[in-house]
Amino acid sequence: MPSPIKDKLGRTLSEIRVSVTDRCNFRCGYCMPERGQLYGFMPRAELLSFEEVERVVRAMASRFGLRKVRLTGGEPLLRAQLERLVERLASVPGVQDLAMTTNGFLLQARAAKLARAGLHRVTVSLDSLNPAVFARATGSTTAPGAVLRGIEAAAAAGLRPIKINCVVQRGVNEDCIAELARHFRGSGHVVRFIEFMDVGTLNGWRADSLVGASEILDRLRAAGNLQRMPQTEHDRVARRYAFDDGSQIGVIASVSQPFCRDCNRARLTADGRLLGCLFASNGISLRDRLRAGASDHEIAAVLREAWSKRADRYSETRSLTPQPGAEHRKLEMYQVGG
Ligand code: GTP
Ligand code: 5AD
Ligand code: SF4
Ligand code: SF4
Repeated sequence: MPSPIKDKLGRTLSEIRVSVTDRCNFRCGYCMPERGQLYGFMPRAELLSFEEVERVVRAMASRFGLRKVRLTGGEPLLRAQLERLVERLASVPGVQDLAMTTNGFLLQARAAKLARAGLHRVTVSLDSLNPAVFARATGSTTAPGAVLRGIEAAAAAGLRPIKINCVVQRGVNEDCIAELARHFRGSGHVVRFIEFMDVGTLNGWRADSLVGASEILDRLRAAGNLQRMPQTEHDRVARRYAFDDGSQIGVIASVSQPFCRDCNRARLTADGRLLGCLFASNGISLRDRLRAGASDHEIAAVLREAWSKRADRYSETRSLTPQPGAEHRKLEMYQVGG
């Protein structure tokens, strides 16, 4: 029987977010801005193999009662044969929820295969329905229609409930959010509006680029009356609201109303570093231990020790003014996977 483990703040490990690649075919300004940067990506040999990811997930599920796995990136669909990893993870006893966060560009072609491999659901990023704003937000020449077709294909393949993530940035897309809410009303898909976070060092985050939850809600009221819904176990990060017709939206206020107290998620980078927080500066290399021949028992001991020492609560302690030297300490969003 698994025996749950708690960190220093009493939070039980129950979820892992696994980044499968740090590469992406978009260049969203809040994650991987295209400002003439040349990104140096992780060499393929440094990425965890699917077998290695499965070993980590099995260890967490069998020994500590992990229930939820989310695949992230970069863009996870750029990892070759991702369906094979999905198949492996779908067969791990105890994993009740197997999800993926994607930018949706490759989803139309892959949704049915992913569903057949055992993926349960997807979350798709979509910052605007307006082609010019979409292009600006994502740094790509793709039209939002490609993402919408990906969402339709995912729904048809049964990868539901579908969530749609919109990061709201001042001066970029705050005028588009009511339209997004209206568009998905009645679809059964839940759009979540996310406060722009100071993740990484490249996105030029400033307090005045934040559109806070209260302003997001004011703007959404242009699309209709909103009522707060009770929090469910499935919504640890988002606060849910419903329009009068019952359609729901979410607001992720990770800056103005942090939720570190409930943070039960470990993160694994594509090169196998275990992180206790989205804002971590480094992590323990499970890959090195796996490749040095560590047994399942030894891997479990490393996981137990790391989690029991965890005291991260960055969002509850962040300062809204940039800290000198902080730019050297954080990993980038595309390396951590959100
Ligand atoms: P489910 O609740 O399983 O549907 O997923 P999720 O909302 O956790 O996943 P998703 O990848 O869609 O994340 C939504 C947004 O919340 C992204 O901007 C994430 O970076 C942010 N987020 C997710 N988890 C955390 C967290 O632990 N801390 C912080 N600060 N932000 C998070
Ligand atoms: N702030 C908030 N959300 C972000 N995401 C990426 N970068 C940021 C940021 N700086 C979101 C993406 C994706 C999810 C994994 O994280 O839109 O949906
Ligand atoms: Fe790519 Fe997602 Fe980062 Fe955008 S937020 S650049 S889609 S990894
Ligand atoms: Fe968890 Fe860190 Fe996010 Fe707080 S800031 S909710 S500790 S990942």
